[in-house]
Amino acid sequence: MKILAIDTSCDETAVAITDGRKVIANAIYSQVLIHKKWGGVVPAIAKRAHEERIDLVINSALSKSKIKNQKSKINLIDCIAVTQGPGLAVALEVGIKKAKELADKYQKKLIAVNHLEGHIYSVFAQNRQGKPEREIKFPYLALLVSGGHTELIIFKDHLSYQVIGETIDDAAGEALDKAAKMLGLGYPGGPIIERLALEAENSDQFKFPRPMLHSPDLNFSFSGLKTSFYYFLKKQKKEKSFGGPRVLRQLASSFQEAVFETLIKKTEKAIMETKINNLIACGGVMNNKYLRKLLRHLAKKHHGQVLFPPYKYLNGDNAAMIGLAAYYKFKKKKFITDINTLDRIPRMQLTTIY
Ligand code: KG4
Ligand code: ZN
Repeated sequence: MKILAIDTSCDETAVAITDGRKVIANAIYSQVLIHKKWGGVVPAIAKRAHEERIDLVINSALSKSKIKNQKSKINLIDCIAVTQGPGLAVALEVGIKKAKELADKYQKKLIAVNHLEGHIYSVFAQNRQGKPEREIKFPYLALLVSGGHTELIIFKDHLSYQVIGETIDDAAGEALDKAAKMLGLGYPGGPIIERLALEAENSDQFKFPRPMLHSPDLNFSFSGLKTSFYYFLKKQKKEKSFGGPRVLRQLASSFQEAVFETLIKKTEKAIMETKINNLIACGGVMNNKYLRKLLRHLAKKHHGQVLFPPYKYLNGDNAAMIGLAAYYKFKKKKFITDINTLDRIPRMQLTTIY
């Protein structure tokens, strides 16, 4: 059951070929270098870059797939899957248009996938040899942390989700990116902050606020933390106490600590409320080794376990995860019946598919 999956939700042009949970081929063209000089993703530039590269990335995935029939590899694909949302409207459009074109030209069925369910399914991806095996045992409590999202979700069964907490303003990854920008560091900021924090002598010297930690719900907020960081830096600069690599490391580390402690505490609250101690941790911020350590520790404390995406390329945006989610939709025959009606949903919610 081979699926060709496309994701153009943000700044990666991603195409993958999957077979059940196995990823047969994965191709990504990252636009990070293009957006770097602007300090963030510029939608119009993202759209152009997707349009320019999409065919190339599709061909790259097909040739990496080692499907035997050289001339018409795409004929051996059973179905096309594409991300419908959430994401940047103009970027999503490029992938959807291409998916419709392929489905129409090669007479393939089309499946629409929510980008967030893709991230959740990413932890069950396997290599060509079917490794890791990871039997799927519901229910899971999923923590999805990326540049666009911070969500706590009960993953009840295949395609069945309940969002129990989310950010009311900035996403955790976005907060890290903005803090890095204020410190004059590069983009994306998460990995740079991680590196600096590793070398800091005291991980939490400046004690920035932990927003919403005592709110009764499971929601997150990172905008207040960002503001407090901004004013702290302003004051430091005025007093001329800012500067020097040592202070920079302490600042990066203290900011990261505030973000991660919030994530951990809210996840712990969710574990206690839902009584689910099997965690899924996904999204680009899960590249962070320190956050992984904190989550492993948390799961152990509650006698559970945590699953991360098994290969590094599955943490950030990719189309392999879209192919995986699409496989479970395929099994339930959740096809787009009239491909002309398929349209992007930039603010698409994660809802259960019955
Ligand atoms: O999932 P992703 O690649 O794209 C979105 O869907 O947003 O996530 C990107 C986010 C960025 O905010 C980036 O700074 C963050 O993931 N990130 C990290 C690390 N690597 C990427 N954050 C912390 N530590 C990292 N090592
Ligand atoms: Zn994403």
